[in-house]
Amino acid sequence: MFNTLKSQPVDKIMALMQMYREDAREGKIDLGVGVYKNALGVTPVMRAVKAAEKVLWDVEGTKSYTGLAGDPAFGKALSGLVLGDTVDADRLSMAAQPGGTGAIHQAVELIKMANPDATIWLSAPTWPNHPSIIKHLGMAMAEYRYFDNETRAVDFDGMMEDLKGVKAGDAVLLHGCCHNPTGANLNVEQWKEVATLIEAKGATPFIDIAYQGFGDGLEEDAAGVRLVAQMVPETMVAASCSKNFGIYRERTGLLFTVSNDAAQAKVTQQNLTHLNRQNFSFPPDHGARLVTMILEDDGLKADWMAELEEVRTGMLGLRTQLADALRERSGSDRFGFIADHRGMFSRLGASPEQVEKMRVDHGIYMVGDSRMNIAGLNEATIPVLADAIIAAGV
Ligand code: LMR
Repeated sequence: MFNTLKSQPVDKIMALMQMYREDAREGKIDLGVGVYKNALGVTPVMRAVKAAEKVLWDVEGTKSYTGLAGDPAFGKALSGLVLGDTVDADRLSMAAQPGGTGAIHQAVELIKMANPDATIWLSAPTWPNHPSIIKHLGMAMAEYRYFDNETRAVDFDGMMEDLKGVKAGDAVLLHGCCHNPTGANLNVEQWKEVATLIEAKGATPFIDIAYQGFGDGLEEDAAGVRLVAQMVPETMVAASCSKNFGIYRERTGLLFTVSNDAAQAKVTQQNLTHLNRQNFSFPPDHGARLVTMILEDDGLKADWMAELEEVRTGMLGLRTQLADALRERSGSDRFGFIADHRGMFSRLGASPEQVEKMRVDHGIYMVGDSRMNIAGLNEATIPVLADAIIAAGV
């Protein structure tokens, strides 16, 4: 039977991770996979996570199953972090998922169950696993313009023009904040215009929020999702705790939906629970439990927020330093966008050949579309990268 299997394309981010590991050069710089690293190149366990784990070790009396949709307290805590109090609780349905990727997969399955003829609209570019999952599940997709390669900012006119093609029953995938891979984000006015258009079209917004707290702040980064959830009758949100709680390998995510009314929310909930049962039964609990403990405890939450803020401002500092170093070397402001972008990534705008040259000549690893993970930098490597960017002729 297996001899009928075809070989599968390798995920380009995963392939880059492997190449970096295999590079024996000292001084190699990893700007590839979206994992936060501190100045020492370490992805630390956050203080509040460690503290919660200690408590959990003491108090956890069973490892028996939770609910099919996970512990409702987790759903309440995480959807609350994203939405604040903008939506009535009885319009929400939710199910814990194995990470943000699990939530996206399940969201696409939900769309397929609700409307197999839906087209899912993606920003050009987007996280490569978005189209990959949608294709895997056999759904149609379309692209809307998003990034202006000249200005390295959002091509908002192009985006709105393309979204005019959205049909009733389609879903529009939006990055809640810290757009991956570009780092260019919508402002609040633009979010309003997008929400108005989606509402007028009778489509459903599908928001992927994987970096809340990495951009302009926890509340600020959720402003777009909150607006959409208030302005459009139905919304779906895939939220990840991998980055902002630093619990990547614990696979902690949530898919939640806002339905038109409480009766619909009950039916949506049954469908989310059903999908979990079909795909993996019970979602992983350890990470979800830690997140719940942190968000429900004032002390732990304050410490988590403080550490997240250190992470966020640290990345902003790296952005400014890199933009300054490039201003000095290029004698121009053309790299100013690096300081304006938000989140872990910036798309540099280098050609694949230039990206390859930086890898071969300097051991600098960025994704082939020139996405850089800013958190892979530190004070010592910024001048090295700035020199390499100029030497590559970017
Ligand atoms: C990334 O974009 O690098 C991260 O979201 C990690 C991944 O799974 O691709």
